[in-house]
Order: sequence, then structure tokens, then C-alpha cells
Amino acid sequence: MLCAAWCASGEITFVEIIELRHFSSGDLRPLLHAECEIWQSQLDWDYSGSAEMVLRYVDSKILPGFAALDRGRVLGYAFYVLEGIKGVVGDVFVDRAHGSETASRMVEARLLQDLIGAIQDSPGVVRAEAQLLLLPTGMAAEPFGAARFARHPRLFMARSLESQATAAPHPGTIPFGIRTWEDGDFQQVAGLISAAYLHHVDAEINDQYQSTSGSLRFLNNIVRFPGCGTFDQQSSLLAHDLRTNQIAGVVLCSTIRADVGHVTQICVDPRYRSKGLGELLMESAAARLRHRNFRSLSLTVTQANHGAIGLYEKLGFSAQHIFDAFVWNG
Ligand SMILES: CC(C)(COP(=O)(O)OP(=O)(O)OC[C@H]1O[C@@H](n2cnc3c(N)ncnc32)[C@H](O)[C@@H]1OP(=O)(O)O)[C@@H](O)C(=O)NCCC(=O)NCCS
Repeated sequence: MLCAAWCASGEITFVEIIELRHFSSGDLRPLLHAECEIWQSQLDWDYSGSAEMVLRYVDSKILPGFAALDRGRVLGYAFYVLEGIKGVVGDVFVDRAHGSETASRMVEARLLQDLIGAIQDSPGVVRAEAQLLLLPTGMAAEPFGAARFARHPRLFMARSLESQATAAPHPGTIPFGIRTWEDGDFQQVAGLISAAYLHHVDAEINDQYQSTSGSLRFLNNIVRFPGCGTFDQQSSLLAHDLRTNQIAGVVLCSTIRADVGHVTQICVDPRYRSKGLGELLMESAAARLRHRNFRSLSLTVTQANHGAIGLYEKLGFSAQHIFDAFVWNG
């Protein structure tokens, strides 16, 4: 059991940092309920499915991480998962309703410090990744920076689906066919993703993009698990070259609320870039969601990915929030 004393302006709080395995879902439920409200108000995202999954893992006592306890009340938590030689920070959240902003940040930093230490000390772990969507950029820079993580600011962007995009359709020189995702597409799309992200900043942030087998694991997570919303087959589309039947691009979407879609992946084979295919895929997915009365569509994009941001802005997306991704290569 680890203990930490926190002094914040005008208040002195004694907070204990305790391993998550000592808690049950009942202890953490109020905290996760508060977190769901923040996801809802800040990102228009219904996080309750993910929260329930976390609570199930907490009950099974297999989720590595820590909770911050203040006089018997859980006011924050953080967890990670190990994937072979890599540790991935799953979440960190401190309920700001119970303390000053300064005190909350200190608890957050301490949770992260302990979490990062646990990951870096795990036998065989040589890499760690984190994407903390709720924390504004710079907020967690200190604990990650101290542990030699690189920081990549990312944008959370959204657009309304209530009106058509204003962009003029791209003239297009190649005839493309569009069809919905099928279960037999995993292997081909994994190959497409690893080719599309060769020498790309996002492959530094998520090393699954660096190989076809890693991209298969990424797809498996996106399609079968609710971490990034619930996979939506009807708006997940593949574009193929009608002359050769070659898969040229893909857009994958999930639902993060009953009426809000989220693009979890969009990429185009380098040989088919700048021909309007990215735009065609995105507009086709948006049209299908609009047809089903979805009211908005969101996505995340690395700030350094200027080409993709140019495309999204052209299609009416605007940045709502900037957060950070962190990467450590030990
Ligand atoms: C982003 C990506 C999907 C765009 O696909 P694409 O088929 O090349 O895009 P389009 O041809 O439809 O481009 C449409 C518009 O987007 C903008 N755009 C696209 N790529 C751009 C680039 N590299 N630089 C600047 N603007 C760019 C332009 O405004 C372009 O309009 P224009 O052709 O009239 O100038 C593609 O570059 C890709 O797969 N990149 C690697 C993976 C990736 O970054 N995915 C996004 C992760 S968030």
C-alpha cells in the first residue's frame, strides 16, 4: 500500500494510492458514473459501455492499476493493460467535484507516476503507449515527460450531419466501387492499413500499424470490442478499384451514442491518394449515418497529420478539443 500526502491551496488532504485489485465494482461505480458525465458533456460520447467493461475487469481482480482513496472515498483511478512487450494506459480519471483543481491535478499526476512506474518495471515490457482523451493537451506532460515519453498532440474533431458538407465533389479519375465491411475483410484491410501508415506519425503512436499482424489486432479490437464505441457495419466502407477489384481505401465507423458516429479508421492505399477517394469514403459514410438520423460525426487526428486535417476541415469538421498521445520506447 502506497501513501501520499497532498497539500493544496487552503486544504490538506491525505490520499492513499492503493492497487486496484483491492477494490470491487461497487467501490468504483460512483467514480465511473462521474466520468461518464464528463465524456458525455465534453465529447458527446456515451462511455457507459466501456465503464461497465472496466467494472467487470475490476471485479475479476485482473486489471492492473491504482485507485486514489480519500477518507474512504475513491476519488480517482488509473489502469493499464499489458500486450506482450507493450503496456497501454487504459485510463486515468480524477473526479474534480471533490477537491480543488490543483489538488485533483496532483492526485492525477501521482496516479500516473505510479502507473507509469508499474508499466516500465513490468518484466519484458519495452514500450508503452497512452492516449488520454479527456485530459487537455499538456495536462499530463509532466509525469510522462519525466519518464521519457514522447508527446504527440491530437485533435478531437466533429461535424454536424444535419446538413450536407459544403465541399464540392472531387472530379475523380478512377472508377471506384463502394461496399460495406464484411467479416472476410480483416486480412486485406490489415494489409492496407500497414501500407497506408508506413513512415507515418500514427505508426509511432500506435505500433500496431507497423505490421499486418499488428493491424489485424487493431481491427479485431475495433470490430469486436466496445473500447472505441460500438462498431457500425453499415457505415464502415471499403472502396475498390472497379478495373482491378483492388481494395484502395477504407473508412471504419462506430457509434459512440445512439445518434453520434465516430470514425475509428480512414486510410487510402498510397497508390490511390489525392484522387478524391478519402473524401468519397468519408462522405459516403456520413451520408449513410445521416440517412439513419445520426446528428453528428467525430474523429481523432494527430496534429502533425496536416493532410488529413486539411481533408477533415474541407468536409466541415472542426477541432473541439486537443489532447495528448504519449509513447515510450524503452
Ligand atoms: C488522409 C487520407 C485518407 C486522404 O485520402 P486521399 O484519398 O488522398 O484524400 P482525397 O484525395 O480525397 O483528398 C481530399 C482533400 O483532402 C485534402 N488533402 C488530402 N491529402 C492531403 C495532403 N497530403 N496535404 C494537404 N491536403 C490534403 C485536400 O484538401 C484534398 O483536396 P484536393 O485534392 O482538392 O486538394 C490519406 O492521405 C491517407 O490514407 N493517409 C494515411 C492515413 C491517415 O493519415 N489517415 C487519417 C488518420 S486520422
